[in-house]
Formats: sequence, C-alpha cells, structure tokens
Amino acid sequence: LDELDRKAFDVVIIGSGIAGMSVALTLNSRLRVLLVSKTAVTDCSTYKAQGGMAVAVGADDTWERHMADTLKVGQGLCRQDAVQVMTEEGPAALDFLESWGAKFNRSSTGGLYLTREAGHSCNRIIHYYDYTGRHIAETMVRVLHGKENIERLDKAYLLDILTTENGYCCGCIVWYSGRMVVLEAAAVVIATGGYSGLYARSTNAASASGDGIAAAYRAGAVLADMEFVQFHPTAFTTQSGEVFLLTEALRGEGAVLRNSEGNRFMLDYHADGELAPRDTVSRAMRREMRREHGSYVYLDATSLDKNYLSSRFRQVYSTLVDNDLRMETDLIPVAPAAHYTIGGVWTDLWGQTSVPQLYACGETAATGVHGANRLASNSLLEGIVFGRRAALAIDGGLSSPLFHHSITGIEAGRNECCADLELLRAALDRDAGVVRREEDMGRLLAALPQNSRPLKNVEAFQSCNAYQLAKLVLEAAILRRESRGTHYRSDYPERDDMHYQKHIEQQWERQAI
Ligand code: SIN
Repeated sequence: LDELDRKAFDVVIIGSGIAGMSVALTLNSRLRVLLVSKTAVTDCSTYKAQGGMAVAVGADDTWERHMADTLKVGQGLCRQDAVQVMTEEGPAALDFLESWGAKFNRSSTGGLYLTREAGHSCNRIIHYYDYTGRHIAETMVRVLHGKENIERLDKAYLLDILTTENGYCCGCIVWYSGRMVVLEAAAVVIATGGYSGLYARSTNAASASGDGIAAAYRAGAVLADMEFVQFHPTAFTTQSGEVFLLTEALRGEGAVLRNSEGNRFMLDYHADGELAPRDTVSRAMRREMRREHGSYVYLDATSLDKNYLSSRFRQVYSTLVDNDLRMETDLIPVAPAAHYTIGGVWTDLWGQTSVPQLYACGETAATGVHGANRLASNSLLEGIVFGRRAALAIDGGLSSPLFHHSITGIEAGRNECCADLELLRAALDRDAGVVRREEDMGRLLAALPQNSRPLKNVEAFQSCNAYQLAKLVLEAAILRRESRGTHYRSDYPERDDMHYQKHIEQQWERQAI
C-alpha cells in the first residue's frame, strides 16, 4: 500500500458520460470532486447517442402520458416510483441542460421540434440534428472546464472499489499512467455505462465493457436485471467494419424496413409496424433474415426528401455517403446490434447502491425505470435525472452523513482470465443475443474460464471483468424461464407473470429470485 499513490477527495465520480457529468455539475461547489474517465469523450455512449432525449414538453403531452408509455414498453417490470421520478423531472432535466448552454432543434414557429420514436404515443423527443449526445457531451465538457472544484483524471482505469471492514465504500483504486493510484473519497459514484461493448456486434465502443458494474459487484453491491440487453434494430456495418447506428428517428420520420424481396414486412408482425418496440422489430428482422438466409434487411428512407435527409440526419447521411450509399435513392443494409444494457447496479431513487456511500447512475444503474425493455430516448433522461439526484443525496447527506472512512487494507488477488475476448464477444452474440435458449447459454456458461491466478496487469483485469459480467448475464438469462421485453427465450416463448414478474438480483457468491 505504501508504494501506491494516494489522493483524497470528497467525491470520486467514475465515468464522464451524461450521468457522471450531471453529478459533477450538480454537486455543491464546496466539495472537492474528481471525475475519472478511461476513454476519450468520443468513445462514450453519450457522445454516440443520436436520437435525442424523451421529455414531456409537447402541447398534447404530460409526464403521466410519458410514464404510461414507459411502463407499457417495460412489460410489467418497471419500478413505478422510479418511472414517475424520471418522467416528472424530465422538464427540469431539459432546463438543466439549457442552463449550461445546450440547444435543441426548433420548428419554424420557434417551439421545440419534437420527433417520434418507437413506443411513444406522441412526438416527444428533443434533439440536436442526429448528434444530440455529442452536442450535450461537448456542452457539458465545456462547462466542467470552468469549475475549480472539479479535477479530471483521464485515461484512468477503475480496478476496484474500496470498502471498510464495516462495508462502507471509502474510495477506489485506479490504474493510471502505468501504476496503481488509491483514491480515497467520502462517496464514490459509478457512472461507467453499460456492458453492450461485450458483444461483437454493438453500437457501443468495446470500452463499454461494464467495468464499474463488475467492480461494484466485487464490492458487495446488489446487481439487478442483468439478463436484459436491448438490441437496436437498425445498425449498419461500414466498409471498415465499424457498427454504426442508424437512429430510430429515421423510422419515426417515415423510413421503413424491407426484406430482400423488397416487401415491407413489419406490419405483418406488429400493428405499429416499424415503430413497434425494439425487441419486436429486432426479432422480426431476425426471422426475415433467417428465412432469406441473409445477414441483413434494408432500411428504406427513399420516400424522404434528399435535402431534408442530409440536413436533419447529417451525421448518418455523411457516414452513408462515405460508404457509397445515398439515402434518397439506396436501400441501406441493417441488422440488430447490442445497444443498451438495462441491468446493472441496483439503486434507490437517489442513486444509492446497497453499499453505503457507493452510488450508481445512468446505464450503470438498475433503477427499474426501463423494466424489461427501454423506451427509446429515455436513457439520456435517466442519466440526468438520477445523476442530479445522486449529487443531491451526496450533497445533503440524505443517505448518511459525509465523512471519510480510513482505509484499513486493500483486497488483492482476483481471478485472472486470459482467454480470447473476441471469442467471448462472438459467443455472446450467438448465445445471449436477440433469441436465447437454455441449452446454448448453459454450454457457454460451462465453457467460461474458471481459473484463478493473481492479476498482473490491467488487461487481465479487463478480461476478468468481461468474463465475470458474461457469467452474470448468462446466469440471470438462464434463470428467467420466460420471454419478456428484450429477453426472448425460444424454449420459453411466453411471458410468465405468475413466476417472473420480479427482478433477478445477483450479489457476490449469491443469486436469488
Ligand atoms: C436512436 O437514436 O435510435 C437511439 C435512441 C435510443 O437508444 O434511445
């Protein structure tokens, strides 16, 4: 321990997406805050968010209506009080963003231009062209630079959460510049995003690998809903092999899906057609692809005007042009990709996890707002609302008074797993994807490495986290013997409220339902 660098702060926030930055910008400026991030801002999921943020500000809209849509898509598994908090505080979240200088597209009459996405009963999505997340992230980063109480530590990798003997979080250890650094803190906030990056085909960067969730789990925090992984239907593979999202707003504005025979097929599967919930659209696409022995179907935006497409969807448009495709004339090949993970660290309505003084928010957290399926564009909203709440809880000592615990020791020696991560990614796509079966998941689970050796480097930590999370996803997905929302089991194709209208929680060395 003596050889490690040690630094003390009031609050350490791990992760600099919308949730982490909302915490930082809401905390009282008397607190000394460290914002830690492992990647460049351009790799984080906030930056990649295209569609926008759902918020009930339309003339015909109310937070109750937004709540009803969220509950419906969540298929009986949403926590109603959490959904109420998120939807009711939506307009305040918008004010928060605008107060820092974020701008959103407006119609010719000056009002917010609200777009439509799947599962919403009215137009409700505020956006900035098709790079809303990038605009929000850049705005917040600019504001953060001016805050004297907030320090940043970039390119630092979270190794572990530190807890005292009586189970309080008291800091964390990060890997920075080739060495371990101990960060003592009265409160730690995990806002490291989700684990979609563990899948081979993902709209997220591979760095979205759930490290914060794995570290919280090892610290004793309860996880929930790990089996629910949302696949976005319309992801395009670029010529360089990158998986690039084609925002759902395209379908909201009139683009349709066609199979290779040119037939518009979604209306055969759901009355809402292309705007059915994402799980329904992804499964329908998979069925069409299997029937045709293909690996994609097509997004057809040719009914939309070229000028409109290239201005409203400028990022998508220019990426497709770079790939020799023009949306006004060409059909775009698309296939589902892992996009958002609903599971994570269980929290209360103030971001408090089951470990005192350890908070989680954004995609990392399992607040229960998404139930079994996330309503489109609720994720940026969740990040702000619960990020701000975590900050207020820490600030006001809502959960318990802020004080520094002394660190008595650092637990060392985790499992080292040095198998091939690319193989794991492909296996998760295959066995824990849009459609799952116990036989396949069980086989993969049994094949995960069990070997235990002391960890030597950060890569070993990374692969250890990946295998730990894959195990948790598979265990939860095997336990849930029904189909609900994003979790579709071909061996249990029906929803079973009698046995499974509840959350699967997982805690170190213990699983319970
Ligand atoms: C999209 O733009 O389609 C993504 C929006 C979301 O995931 O909520």
